[in-house]
Amino acid sequence: MEIIRTVNRLREATEEAKKKGLTVGLVPTMGALHAGHISLIERARQENDVVVVSVFVNPTQFNNPDDLRTYPRTEEADCEKLEGAGVDIAFIPSVEEVYPEPDTRVFDLGPVGEVMEGAMRPGHFNGVAQVVSRLFRMVNPDRAYFGEKDFQQISVIRRMVELEGMELEIVPCPIKREADGLALSSRNVRLSARQREVAPNIHRILAESVGLAPAISVADVKARVIDSINAYPEMEVEYYEIVNPADMQPIGEWSQAGKEAVGCVTVYLGDVRLIDNIKYPL
Ligand code: PAJ
Repeated sequence: MEIIRTVNRLREATEEAKKKGLTVGLVPTMGALHAGHISLIERARQENDVVVVSVFVNPTQFNNPDDLRTYPRTEEADCEKLEGAGVDIAFIPSVEEVYPEPDTRVFDLGPVGEVMEGAMRPGHFNGVAQVVSRLFRMVNPDRAYFGEKDFQQISVIRRMVELEGMELEIVPCPIKREADGLALSSRNVRLSARQREVAPNIHRILAESVGLAPAISVADVKARVIDSINAYPEMEVEYYEIVNPADMQPIGEWSQAGKEAVGCVTVYLGDVRLIDNIKYPL
């Protein structure tokens, strides 16, 4: 595995691979790698000749300076995991390397960027679009891999790709969970023992609600999920929306979604904010 820290060397390496007719898969990450990230890398490993993983804590997507400051940075452990997963190139740039000048671009992300995370974290998705568009231009990958844990992020990236006229395949990958159902997240290590104990109830409650659709109305399913999670004094739902995955817009009737609807939740446990989602086959 080659560790690359400059854009020049990255371009050189990926252009060389492309000239040889090799396919390139990119997995963008912010490091603090866990088995969720590794599952994306394994998928990329199966489908491409050359696998590039970027590890970059992107300042422009943090709307809260404390969140940026306290974001876990574990480069050495990350490199060991990347090596173990058979990665060819680990791209670990400085902020100056990615943003030699401030990025002032404002992406017209449209409806997919306005709801849920877009509404709760102003500027967040614009920052994601900024960094991912830069990474795509630097690497020029055939495929890029994203986790469905950040379900709305995938729609935002598809929209950015369309706006920029880029040609690559965006590959969504399933959520990787702990044995007890908790979705893997870099933030899980910040949970107290008691918070960690109750957190798997988020997935349990979401999974149990799937059987209610479509007999029970969307509004009632939402209310039941929110009430069941909030019944734990340690947890507080920020939002629970059931959306049509085609445009991320909340639905009022099951018939407004196609063959599936997706329930997206964010829950606070103390100051730790967890997100998760579940599919309702219709
Ligand atoms: P990060 O939170 O590090 O996540 C990197 C990728 O791993 C994302 O596509 C995310 O959805 C995926 N991922 C995280 N937890 C997962 C899980 N439990 N199962 C499956 N996939 C999981 O998302 C970002 O970084 C950034 O916004 C980024 C796209 C890198 C842009 O800065």
